[in-house]
Amino acid sequence: MSKVSKVWARQILDSRGLPTVETVVQLDTGHTAVASVPGGTSTGTYECVDLRDNDPANYDGKGVSKAVKNVNETLGPGIWGLDSTDQAAIDKRLIDLDGSKNKSKFGANAILSISAANSKAAAMAQNTSLYAWTNTLAKRAGINAALKVPTPVFNMINGGLHGAGNLDFQEFHVIPATSKNYSEALKIGVEVYITLGKNLERRGAIHSVGDEGGYAPNLFTNADALEVLFESIKETTYQIGRDVFLGLDVAASVFYKNGNYTIRDKSTPLSDDALIDYYKYLNSQYHMSHIEDPLHEDAWASWKKLYESFQGQLTVVGDDLLVTNTERVEKAIAEKACDAILVKPNQVGTVWETLLVVKRAREANWKVITSHRSGETNDWFIADFAVGIGSDFVKFGAPARGERVAKYNRLLSIEAELASAK
Ligand code: PGA
Ligand code: ZN
Repeated sequence: MSKVSKVWARQILDSRGLPTVETVVQLDTGHTAVASVPGGTSTGTYECVDLRDNDPANYDGKGVSKAVKNVNETLGPGIWGLDSTDQAAIDKRLIDLDGSKNKSKFGANAILSISAANSKAAAMAQNTSLYAWTNTLAKRAGINAALKVPTPVFNMINGGLHGAGNLDFQEFHVIPATSKNYSEALKIGVEVYITLGKNLERRGAIHSVGDEGGYAPNLFTNADALEVLFESIKETTYQIGRDVFLGLDVAASVFYKNGNYTIRDKSTPLSDDALIDYYKYLNSQYHMSHIEDPLHEDAWASWKKLYESFQGQLTVVGDDLLVTNTERVEKAIAEKACDAILVKPNQVGTVWETLLVVKRAREANWKVITSHRSGETNDWFIADFAVGIGSDFVKFGAPARGERVAKYNRLLSIEAELASAK
């Protein structure tokens, strides 16, 4: 048994230069592990609370000194002496200490930093890798997961709140075929990314990359972004529909106002039904394989309608809809609203609760996509986590920017380890 002997936290910066929490968990075996937590921008309304200081005089209100204090003074001491290998008990203690339904008292950021650091420390104390240890935890939680490196979903063009402000849809994805092994898939992603960059440059359309490393070009419409992606793939040696597929994270709640969606592709605001019709048109043109958050996070009846009309053609992914929350997943299963979940541990706030959500999704035969956030650190916890739970896909951004590449590179080393273990 390895017991937690000390826990301490500090405020560090994420990839946007905003404060976030980094926590160290030390065990009585002498092992120490560090974890830092990410932060979202297009956060779902029903996510657990990312506790910020809200002091406009410091870090524009985004400081996390209260969350750090909560780790150092209450949450950390609260798990001293507990068995680090009993992740369920550690997480339960953290949840009980907080006592709120949405972790608003001490902060999901504070809580997850401890939960994740503890799982890393437990893996170290048992002399095993984090992905293998996560796999043991996943099995304990009732997930029947085989160890494999997931297929990457590359976010090649950043719009919405992550981009330069002229695309409404948040993410334009390229997804290699699931038959490709991971290093092949990564190479495809990089080659498409390079070709897309040249193409945008030729059109005079690039001015930067966005929060997740994808280009943030000044195009006219969301359809234009799909078009340029489509054309770029045609310039590579890869074939759309065979080697690669397109996808979207629309993050529709962000541009939903007074019952309608305003996008620059259309001169008048669209109803749920009109937006669904527009997706049908886009899919007929660009043959997508999946669509995430196509509708507002509370538009349950329309999600059901969309899922019905795309069933078998498109994987329908819930992110803001589900917020890695068991109750919302139960509702989505009952209502047949989607068939895939975006898994973000910081939406729920502990490792163990994340595993329980994944278990329910698997029982419903859903696809699982493990995801970063738009504000990240170089921590690659999420890469090991994705492998350990047997994710079908990972969404870590474009194959560019250090905090994104840290995760993609970690998957390369896991792929090599798994191959040599065969
Ligand atoms: P976020 O975006 O981290 O800003 O919420 C990621 C996503 O919507 O998938
Ligand atoms: Zn999303």
